[in-house]
Amino acid sequence: MKILLVGASGTIGKHVSEALKGHEILSIGRSSGDHRADIESRESLRALFRKLAPFDAVANASGHVAFAPLPELDAEKWKHSLGNKLMGQIQLAQEAIPYLSERGSITLVSGVLSDEFIPSGVAATTVNRALEGFVEASAIEMQRGIRINIISPTLLKDSEKAYEGFFPGFVAVEGWKVGQAYKKAILGAMTGQILRVL
Ligand SMILES: NC(=O)c1ccc[n+]([C@@H]2O[C@H](COP(=O)([O-])OP(=O)(O)OC[C@H]3O[C@@H](n4cnc5c(N)ncnc54)[C@H](OP(=O)(O)O)[C@@H]3O)[C@@H](O)[C@H]2O)c1
Repeated sequence: MKILLVGASGTIGKHVSEALKGHEILSIGRSSGDHRADIESRESLRALFRKLAPFDAVANASGHVAFAPLPELDAEKWKHSLGNKLMGQIQLAQEAIPYLSERGSITLVSGVLSDEFIPSGVAATTVNRALEGFVEASAIEMQRGIRINIISPTLLKDSEKAYEGFFPGFVAVEGWKVGQAYKKAILGAMTGQILRVL
């Protein structure tokens, strides 16, 4: 299967690549990978998809949101959070559709903060829930058997240090399990699903 993986060089991306060994994985990043694209730029995504078409799956393991207390979530932080992780993935999905092969798939990523709330996590919760809504609703409008799903992992063990203090009492998950959830979404038959990895 020919799989485009955005964010392949990142913490989650490496586990996804490992889980999908044996398939043709084309890694994509802003400054890393076989091919370059920025999820914030519709044009860069469209140009890349056109160049690499046709492909059987596109999966995303990138996206950033601001972590800040509510009073500090100013217009700029909202713009960044909505423009990057939310609109970045929505435009990735929409731009990929015409270039996906029949019964191809789209796999996005949200996170545990759509179900659990932490101080400084308002932007993450807002964005993750919006993404899950996008996936559930858009699944019924997909044509040519195209499927769309979203992976919602809790904090990864690999990322515990990076998020130290933000997730007290959360039990981090091993990254390989997140890789397997992507594998299930890409190789399976499900659509419109939120795959929680806790
Ligand atoms: N890590 C966790 O514990 C965890 C838990 C739940 C959910 N998540 C979610 O999973 C996603 C990935 O997290 P991560 O921790 O694996 O991130 P990461 O380690 O920071 O890796 C990010 C990856 O995305 C690429 N990237 C960054 N910005 C991009 C852009 N604008 N366009 C295209 N590619 C871009 C990076 O490569 P370049 O620098 O070359 O662009 C890199 O390969 C995020 O949405 C995050 O919220 C993470």
